[in-house]
Amino acid sequence: MKTIVLEKDKKYSICTCGLSKALPFCDNTHRSFNEKYRTNYKSVKIIPNEKIELEISSSTWKK
Ligand code: FES
Repeated sequence: MKTIVLEKDKKYSICTCGLSKALPFCDNTHRSFNEKYRTNYKSVKIIPNEKIELEISSSTWKK
């Protein structure tokens, strides 16, 4: 579980593949992984309409 603060009206990309070096954010590592292993990981885009603190996790992220 990671706690992050997201700013109003800013676009964030959240990693779903678990390979990003900037977890929980996507750093586009999924692109080369998808190409090599024929998977289809994509990030989740979030644009908060107010400043929020968010607790977030994914089963693909290392603990
Ligand atoms: S690096 Fe994991 S979804 Fe982009």
